[in-house]
Amino acid sequence: MAVRTVIKIGNPLLVEKSALVESIDHNLRQELIADMLDTMVAEDGAGIAAPQIGESLRVVIFGIEKNPRYPDVEPVPTTVLINPVIEVLSTEIESAWEGCLSVPGFRGLVPRYKNIRYHGLDENGHIIDRVVSDFHARVVQHEVDHLDGILYPQRIKDLKDFGLISELQAAGTIPKIEE
Ligand code: NI
Repeated sequence: MAVRTVIKIGNPLLVEKSALVESIDHNLRQELIADMLDTMVAEDGAGIAAPQIGESLRVVIFGIEKNPRYPDVEPVPTTVLINPVIEVLSTEIESAWEGCLSVPGFRGLVPRYKNIRYHGLDENGHIIDRVVSDFHARVVQHEVDHLDGILYPQRIKDLKDFGLISELQAAGTIPKIEE
């Protein structure tokens, strides 16, 4: 287990489509998944996708506990999701500010589907199948986008809604967060 370097926007690996995982074995669990989890915790992220540590495989991890830094966000159980598939359940779209460990220091206003169903396999090969909405739906859409080589700035409708965290906070556009 190890904290790995998170690759950043501009690295061509982040715009590649990742490959399906063909077998969920000891190596996948002990190397890739363990390293992703360690890295997500060390970087204090709400999610991470395998390509962000340079592995072009369809694996994402996400989760957020009740956190005073995100008072308006409902908790999401820490979930390892392999070969995820998203089904959109309604055309309803919501916009909210997102960040990404691969785009450090920035936030952007991103429209996402409000209600989705997602399914895939966990680290033991068991099926995960959930109907979710709001922040939970957003984080899954963000992470699965990574597997298709899409970073959130590509989803921003108007690039005026993209900027440095420090400037957006100074302007009152996004709340200040206690570090
Ligand atoms: Ni991201």
